[in-house]
Amino acid sequence: MNILLLGSGGREHALAWKMEQSPLCKKLWIAPGNAGTQLCGTNVELNINDFDAVASFMVAHHIDMLVVGPEEPLVNGIADFVLQNPSTSHVQVIGPSAKGALLEGSKQFAKEFMQKYNIPTAAYRSFTAESYEEGVDFLETLASPYVLKADGLAAGKGVAIVQSLDGAIDVLKGMLKDKAFGKASEKVVIEEFLEGVEVSVFVATDGKNWILLPEAKDYKRIGEGDTGPNTGGMGAVSPVSFADTEFMEKVKTRIVQPTIDGLQKENIPYTGFIFVGLMNVNGDPYVIEYNVRMGDPETEAIIPRISSDFVQMLKLMGEGNLNNYTLEVCPEFAVTVMLVSGGYPGSYEKGHEISGLDHIDGSHVFYAGASERDEKVVTSGGRVVAITSLHSSLEKARLQSMKNAAIIKFHQVNFRTDIGLDLQG
Ligand code: AMP
Ligand code: GLY
Repeated sequence: MNILLLGSGGREHALAWKMEQSPLCKKLWIAPGNAGTQLCGTNVELNINDFDAVASFMVAHHIDMLVVGPEEPLVNGIADFVLQNPSTSHVQVIGPSAKGALLEGSKQFAKEFMQKYNIPTAAYRSFTAESYEEGVDFLETLASPYVLKADGLAAGKGVAIVQSLDGAIDVLKGMLKDKAFGKASEKVVIEEFLEGVEVSVFVATDGKNWILLPEAKDYKRIGEGDTGPNTGGMGAVSPVSFADTEFMEKVKTRIVQPTIDGLQKENIPYTGFIFVGLMNVNGDPYVIEYNVRMGDPETEAIIPRISSDFVQMLKLMGEGNLNNYTLEVCPEFAVTVMLVSGGYPGSYEKGHEISGLDHIDGSHVFYAGASERDEKVVTSGGRVVAITSLHSSLEKARLQSMKNAAIIKFHQVNFRTDIGLDLQG
């Protein structure tokens, strides 16, 4: 098959690395890709939100399968566009319809969906500028901390967790009245705070059949010991010790099956991934959020654990025959450590040369914000490189990733050394 993968992060490098190994993959293109995806296929300069350009490229290069990495094109309707366009309607699209992508694209839609299908999640109400005063009244009935979420996509920044009531009212005002996130915060969901530990669960589905990929824990805060501001993710571990058979059984029966059933009842076609962000509240799973794509950096931890053919899985998803796939997973622990630019998640510099990439032994290196310039690899984003190590001992996997992370150098490189420490014995 000729495959086009959209995206340019560490997630896409891990996906490209895995897909390229499949005997089913004839030619792999990545748009726009990064310095790492270029090692697995051919990068192509395309604006992934320009659907006409994507479709023309697919026709010209006889693409059989389109794999959509990030959420934005999905929320903008790329799957519908490709499948409804006669020149590309034969392409297998891995990624849901715009309607399905609302699970991530609108917090209110996701909340209503969960409520309708009895899927456990935090209690909530949603408000607009017109109902701002009611929002303030509602906040006054809640206990601290307060959770406020912009309804739409806000590049991962639309969630505020605030300790004081005054602070929460300020955030509500900022979002609704001062349009802090533009259109994305015209509606705001205020919800109950859930106390617990988070885990990311990944469902691959053809809309009817589904399988669970390995779960992972993401480390979102910039600082050691989960301190400081939130980031896109500073590392990940898979598997997750507390996600044991009993917990995962609850996840399947209370969350995954009702989600797939709900999509079918709503007549929402869904070929792709559902990433369920869960809170483990005293052994019971609650949905924090749905995403309609794989996670980053979770993908960099999960993909190296999958030993079966990933393109075969995608193909069966596209054909509606995922029930014929046998997923094989390596039982070892994967520890992924993200090397980030100094200053991230605030402002940071780009364009600094990255050294040491060729001196890594015994770990996978997935490039994220790293691009090629004059035959050198330079930083081009906040999250720069992910290092993943596998070992039957979680601690040894962590130490291996630390050892190799220390070999990679660029201006003001920063990484967390405690990824996975909390999950040990
Ligand atoms: P989201 O973008 O919805 O994933 O939210 C970002 C982060 O905020 C989540 O990963 C959680 O750590 C936290 N969060 C979101 N909703 C809640 C909640 N209801 N209770 C506690 N923490 C939450
Ligand atoms: N690691 C969280 C995300 O991909 O949204």
